[in-house]
Amino acid sequence: RAASSYTVPRDPRFAQLEQQDLDYFRSVIGDTGVLTDPDALQTYSIDWMGKYEGKCSVALRPKSTEQVSKILAHCNKRLLAVVPQGGNTGLVGGSTPVHDEVVLSTAGLNRVLSFDAVSGALVCEAGCVLEQLDAHVGGHGFTMPLDLGAKGSCHIGGNLATNAGGLRLLRYGSLHGSVLGLEAVLANGTVLDLLTTLRKDNTGYDLKQLLVGSEGTLGVITAAAIQCPPRPAAVHVAYLAVPSFATVQQVFVRARRRLGEILSAFEFLDRGSLELTLAELDGVRDPLPSSAEPFYLVVETSGSNAEHDYAKLEAFLEEVMEEGLVADGTLAQDSTQVAGIWGLREGISVALRHAGPVYKYDLSLPVGKMYELVEETRARVAGLPCRVFGYGHLGDGNLHLNVSTPRYDDAVQARLEPWIYEWTAAQRGSVSAEHGMGRMKAECIGYSKPAAAVDVMAQIKALLDPNLILNPYKVLPRAALAGNVP
Ligand code: FAD
Ligand code: MLT
Ligand code: ZN
Repeated sequence: RAASSYTVPRDPRFAQLEQQDLDYFRSVIGDTGVLTDPDALQTYSIDWMGKYEGKCSVALRPKSTEQVSKILAHCNKRLLAVVPQGGNTGLVGGSTPVHDEVVLSTAGLNRVLSFDAVSGALVCEAGCVLEQLDAHVGGHGFTMPLDLGAKGSCHIGGNLATNAGGLRLLRYGSLHGSVLGLEAVLANGTVLDLLTTLRKDNTGYDLKQLLVGSEGTLGVITAAAIQCPPRPAAVHVAYLAVPSFATVQQVFVRARRRLGEILSAFEFLDRGSLELTLAELDGVRDPLPSSAEPFYLVVETSGSNAEHDYAKLEAFLEEVMEEGLVADGTLAQDSTQVAGIWGLREGISVALRHAGPVYKYDLSLPVGKMYELVEETRARVAGLPCRVFGYGHLGDGNLHLNVSTPRYDDAVQARLEPWIYEWTAAQRGSVSAEHGMGRMKAECIGYSKPAAAVDVMAQIKALLDPNLILNPYKVLPRAALAGNVP
């Protein structure tokens, strides 16, 4: 059952969908692109977790930027609210309607437009699936600069709209650095063609960066140019069992020092996350079945010389084991073992979904504070039917704190929020490291940004989307937008 919380009243300014709207949409994108069948609409109305559900009146699947432009111009004129949707894998309720908003899916915008095998610049439409793009550029000896568990479903447009981080941000940096160009359609139908592949371009304000991380509230991304790095010739993965969180931090410092430029991921999971994933998912194997330490690390190197990289990783592992920083460890011996270890790490969110309703918090914190919050959360929900899990991108200071419960329950949520946000704010952390604000945290931005900054954001929103039709009820607090309601 979807969560009952996070409800907001429908904005009465928005029009209800009428037959004339459907007729217009059909005239622009044809019958097959206009979905009204209740069963078909269900998948567009509910998110990956089954937590955030609206009731979309229609789902539209345009196949060109021009069609997106016509749809938005019409919705803007008619005051129809619109939710842009990519692969619908977002974890904060940003991609589904809250009420009866029109869903504008990018699934039909799925063509690779060009790839430059000299520079590594990929140009593609927004609805291309990340994993398919990786296979495409892989054929030319390149890789996508991001990787995440949802790669088989998420779209590059959705990745950009959420500024997704993922498993290799440590190596390739945030998407803000990898995006070379964008094409986006504004709420009134204006097409912003910023789709160049230049590495350097200081002509005025860098508008594309505004769209990155805007979560569908400023425009619909229709195409993107991405800088792809060369595919590493050698990838090695170590899986380590560590006796305490203090030691986890020491291992991180040592990994950076010893593995230097080849370190490409440094992920952690606690024992509970490991046990849950092994219990919930078939086909996931425990890489260290005889160990029972409280923390586990996935350390990856990506380089150009397999022997040299392996020797470095082996020497690092010997050193941290000799010093007692690591209780047990294993190095993947082939690509199957590499995939097995990553399957375990990426499987945690899937296992949590299998286990039932889950409250997910995606926080940036000083590394030294990350697990303190997990332990304090455990103490805080003592007596409630909750299991608390901690894992995440330790190398990026990004904790995923997850609380699994038998059902969504306002009493559980009230124990967690706003306490977790206050705790994070007290550390000057971020209440959204990589998942975004969506519907879940639209009222929470003040924990991580000053009022003056939120006010500027609201003004930018009103400038680009004066009728506030794009992804309403998401990202920014209602009060901040109130002064800009037309
Ligand atoms: P959607 O979920 O469809 O949309 C997400 C948001 O972007 C919504 O607000 C939507 O309105 C907007 N949007 C989508 N497409 C467009 C567009 N073309 N133009 C404008 N706005 C648009 N995230 C991470 O950062 N790191 C991870 O490691 C990670 N791992 C994940 C693992 C799993 C198993 C799952 C289910 C999710 C994970 N995520 C992770 C969440 C993450 O945000 C996404 O998976 C991904 O970036 C969303 O892409 P999507 O195409 O599914 O977008
Ligand atoms: C991850 O790192 O596994 C993702 O961000 C998904 C999640 O937080 O569950
Ligand atoms: Zn993550």
